[in-house]
This record gives sequence, C-alpha cells and structure tokens, in this order.
Amino acid sequence: MSVGLDDVVAAETALSHVDGEAGRLIIRGFDLEELAGRQSFEAVSSLLWRDLAAAGDAMAVRHALGAARVAAFPIAERLLPMSAGLSPVEALRLMLSGLSDASPIPGHVLVTAAMPVFVAAITRHRDGLAPVAPDAALGQAADFLRMLRGQAASPAEIHALDTYLVTVIDHGLNASTFTARVVASTRAGMVSSVIAGLCALKGPLHGGAPGPVLDMLDEIATPERIRPWLEQALDNGERLMGFGHRVYRVRDPRADVLKHVAATLRAGANRIQFADEVERAALAILAERKRSRPLQTNVEFYTALVLEALALPRETFTPVFAVGRVAGWAAHVLEQEAANRLIRPQSRYVGPLPKRAA
Ligand code: CMC
Repeated sequence: MSVGLDDVVAAETALSHVDGEAGRLIIRGFDLEELAGRQSFEAVSSLLWRDLAAAGDAMAVRHALGAARVAAFPIAERLLPMSAGLSPVEALRLMLSGLSDASPIPGHVLVTAAMPVFVAAITRHRDGLAPVAPDAALGQAADFLRMLRGQAASPAEIHALDTYLVTVIDHGLNASTFTARVVASTRAGMVSSVIAGLCALKGPLHGGAPGPVLDMLDEIATPERIRPWLEQALDNGERLMGFGHRVYRVRDPRADVLKHVAATLRAGANRIQFADEVERAALAILAERKRSRPLQTNVEFYTALVLEALALPRETFTPVFAVGRVAGWAAHVLEQEAANRLIRPQSRYVGPLPKRAA
C-alpha cells in the first residue's frame, strides 16, 4: 500500500503530464516552455477546455471571461463585509461559495473569471480600500493587476503575471486537482469542486509555500547567514520551503520559467540575486544531507519572487496561485464529468476486530 498514493494512477487525462525524471511538463501536447511567455492565459485556457466545453479560441475565451468578471463583481461587493477576520485564502473560499451552479454562465468560465475579481477585492479590502470594478475589455492578467491597484499596470508587469498564470495553470494529478476531481465525481458540480480544490491548495505542502519562502529570505537577511541559517533549520527538522517535490526528481521546469520572469522585473533585482545565492546553498546542503532523495527547487521558490516583484502581499500568494490554477481545475472537472465514475477507493482496516468476530 502507498500511504501518499505516490505511484498510483488514479485518472486518465488528456490535459497535462508531469515527467518527473526528465523535468518536463506537457500541457495538451506542448512543453510548458512553448506556452509560458508565448501564449496568453486565455489561449492556454481555451487549449485546456477545447473538446470539453464550448470554449472557442483565445479571443472568444477572453470575451467570455471579461463578461463573467463583470457578473461576479457584485458577489465580491456583497460578501466582502463578511470576510473580516479571515485570511485571504479563507476569504476567497467564502466568496467562491457565493457562486452558483445554477448561473446561466458556464461553470468553467464563471469560476475562472470570478477568481481574479475576488482576489483583487480581498487584497484591497485588507488595506481598507474599496474594490475596483472589472473592465471586460481587458485580459485576465491586465484586469487583475488593474483591479488590485486601481490603475493600469505596465506591459512588462502584465506579461510577467500572464506568464505566471500560464506556468501554474495545470500540473497533472496534484493534490488540489485530485480533490476537485473526487468532488466532481460525486456530481457535486463545478463550483463545489473548485472550492474543494482551493481548500487542498491552502496547505503549505502544496500552494501555501511561497509566502514562507519570502519569510525565509527575510530571516536569513545577509549572505553570511545563509549557510548557518539553512543548516540550523534542517537540524531543527524543518523543511526548506520552495524545495522538494513528490514527482520531480530533477529541477521543476516551472522554476526556470519563473526565474527568467523574475529577472525581467527590475523591482526585484537585488532580491533575486540574494535568492539565487540562497538557492545554490540550499541545493548543496540538501544534496549533502539527503542523499537518498534528490531535492531540487520547485515552482514556489521563484513564484515568491515574481509575485513580490509585482508588489503583491505575501498573504495573497496562495489565492493568486488559484487565479491561474482554476482554469486547470475547471478542465479536470469537465473531463471527469465527461466520463464519470464515482472515485471511491478502499482503505485497509488495521483497527481492532469486534470481540464476537468470526
Ligand atoms: N526540505 C528539507 N527536506 C525535505 C524537503 C524540504 N523542502 N522536502 C523533502 N525533504 C526530505 C524529507 O525530510 C525526507 O527526508 P528523510 O528521508 O531524511 O526523512 C525526504 O526528503 C523525503 O520526503 P517526503 O516527505 O517523502 O517527500 P514528499 O514527496 O512527501 O514531499 C513535498 C513533497 C513538496 C511535500 C516536500 O518536498 C516539502 O515539504 N517541500 C517544502 C514545501 C514546498 O515547497 N511545497 C511546494 C511544493 S511544489 C507546489 C506543488 O506542485 O504543489
């Protein structure tokens, strides 16, 4: 039995494939590097959704998402006052609950469009600012940054965020995607399946790591402290955030894409140089200490630097991850629904038997 289902194949999918030995992520027949930075979030969403829903091409998806963002905005306004005391990811969970499967907007479009509207509103609310209404004419990345800031972002920033959203859009049967598919298999519907996916993403072993990556860089603070800090953390039995992966045995290809993106954002130049030093030291120390398991940099390490350079607060990093991943969750829900069988594995009972057992 595999406690973490490590090598268990639990679904067939035509959406994406993670080759952990080669360090390759294939999305619908394309290597990630062919898509990220070259195709928009809308184009890759339409690639994921084609054959599963009436998705149309990139432009059709862009129009549909723009209109659906506008439709989702009143929900953000209505539920914001109820989010007091919740963390951003908890507030996002609350707002997604305001969406209905009975909406006339197709479920995959609704959840994908709502995500940036909600995350922007939540982010502004924690700074005491009123939400900014969506602009249906913009793409998701440009409108998300505009709704966050109340003013247009630069083309370089929009391109960086768009590249990030594509980089995290889908990733095989990761914990949140599997969760979404399990819920979809009960025929619970798109909204409930996506909320379940978000709940799985929340944990630090999955989508909650990039905030702690920045905490780590802040605590290390200076080059002389890098090695002693990392050694101490490992001596204390801690995990280094942004390193290691269940599937990759070589470097996560998403880390390289995002490292390149981070370098294009001048705001983070010193930080990126320092992070580079921390990364090199961490990899050397992990190689010395964890000889049984090749541990490499994962997507979260450079996610942290890209999102920080875009002036996003670290508490919102997990919700921002969801702004990209939601298109993949939605595709998996559609794929599950198209050839559904209730996902219902067995457990092996290791508890005591009743006294009268035969
Ligand atoms: N720092 C230190 N040691 C580690 C780390 C790490 N980041 N990751 C794994 N190990 C060690 C672990 O302690 C164990 O060592 P030992 O055999 O001496 O006990 C060995 O590697 C194997 O660990 P495991 O728990 O069997 O590995 P896993 O496949 O369950 O872990 C992971 C995958 C991502 C949960 C883990 O690497 C981790 O906790 N990383 C830090 C959190 C993080 O960066 N999460 C984001 C993951 S990428 C986003 C995504 O795709 O979801």
